[in-house]
Amino acid sequence: MSSLKLGNIGSLVTFSSQSSSMICQHDVELIIENSTIIEVGKKLGDADFFIDCKNNLVTPGFVDSHTHPVFVHTREDEFHMRLSGLDYNEINKNGGGILNSSRLLRNASEALLISKVKSRMDAFLKFGTTTVECKSGYGLDTDSELKSLSVIDKVNKMHDIDMIPTFMGAHDFPLEYKNKKDAYVDLICSEMIPQVAKQGIAKFNDVFCEKGYFNLDQSRHILLTGKKHGLIPRIHADEFSCFGASKLAADLKVLSADHLMEIDKSGIDALANKSIIGTLLPGTTFFLGKKKYAPYLDLQKKGVEVAIASDFNPGSCNIQSMEFILTLSCIFMKMNILEAIKSSTIVASKSLMIDHKVGSIEKGKKADILVWRIPDVKKIPYFINQNQINLVLKNGKPVFTA
Ligand code: NIG
Ligand code: FE
Repeated sequence: MSSLKLGNIGSLVTFSSQSSSMICQHDVELIIENSTIIEVGKKLGDADFFIDCKNNLVTPGFVDSHTHPVFVHTREDEFHMRLSGLDYNEINKNGGGILNSSRLLRNASEALLISKVKSRMDAFLKFGTTTVECKSGYGLDTDSELKSLSVIDKVNKMHDIDMIPTFMGAHDFPLEYKNKKDAYVDLICSEMIPQVAKQGIAKFNDVFCEKGYFNLDQSRHILLTGKKHGLIPRIHADEFSCFGASKLAADLKVLSADHLMEIDKSGIDALANKSIIGTLLPGTTFFLGKKKYAPYLDLQKKGVEVAIASDFNPGSCNIQSMEFILTLSCIFMKMNILEAIKSSTIVASKSLMIDHKVGSIEKGKKADILVWRIPDVKKIPYFINQNQINLVLKNGKPVFTA
């Protein structure tokens, strides 16, 4: 058993379960034994190893609770089509978008996907993300969805980062089911979900509940079927249009309703009444060049707990840096920086049901820790174009040094 001490910490910013709020402590140290934080306090004893934080900021590692990282290529051609005036949904209707990624993924070997996903996970770690939720959803047939989840499982076993797998067969309707959408919903419910559950390779079940994609009835059926098979529901809701997805989220008591750019007052009330976490993805709004960000302040006023995540994917958001997502949250959603850290650590971990293990720097939690090269949190959103993280500890082990 070896121990590690982090000393000369300028400020330690974390959620505290004791006070149920974010705290900022000075002159504290922490001791890690193997992969666990065993003590946080003043003037602690010696340890086998020492890291000098040089009076800089220390925070928990980011928990990115919404990503779509299992794909072959990025889709910059579509980015440029959007710049010339085409809309995200128009591009998708013309064979671009999710179906474009799906064609490539179906033909890709598992080995190729493993190497692609592995290097994306390297980048996440470098940006300080120590836990990442990963969705399937570019396969859209049973074999390719299982292949995607198997890739997540295999990379998770070989990589330092922790990956939390979500089945998202309901990401779009594949071409062969274009004119028989309910038959695809049947395929998801009678074949994909049972096999995913049998293989035990997904924790959550997600649906793109959106105009032109999965309607309320289809989404409800898919999420309830998943639930019966032990897959916990989460949902893409009110991203481009508002027709009741947040109310469905509340009705089904999903773990998290995500996107919410177009959520209305009654949707906000529904989430608040059932204590559903709202996961906001400002990177997508920004990347798509849209003006209307999710109404963070309205959600907050009504008491909805808010997580923020990257939504990293090849179409609507090629952003992996949570530091940048924090900046966007502050500028465009008027989030206060401490709230932004809370949303991207403890609340995000709660939305993945792992808040007993990660998301804060407290005794007994995993030592997933960031040492920054700045003394306090105010500099995070201000220095927009710099990765200001000096050192990433995952399970108490340095996995990235600037
Ligand atoms: O979360 N909203 C649906 N899915 C992704 C985009 C996927 C893609 O365009 O490839 C999202 O934004
Ligand atoms: Fe998404």
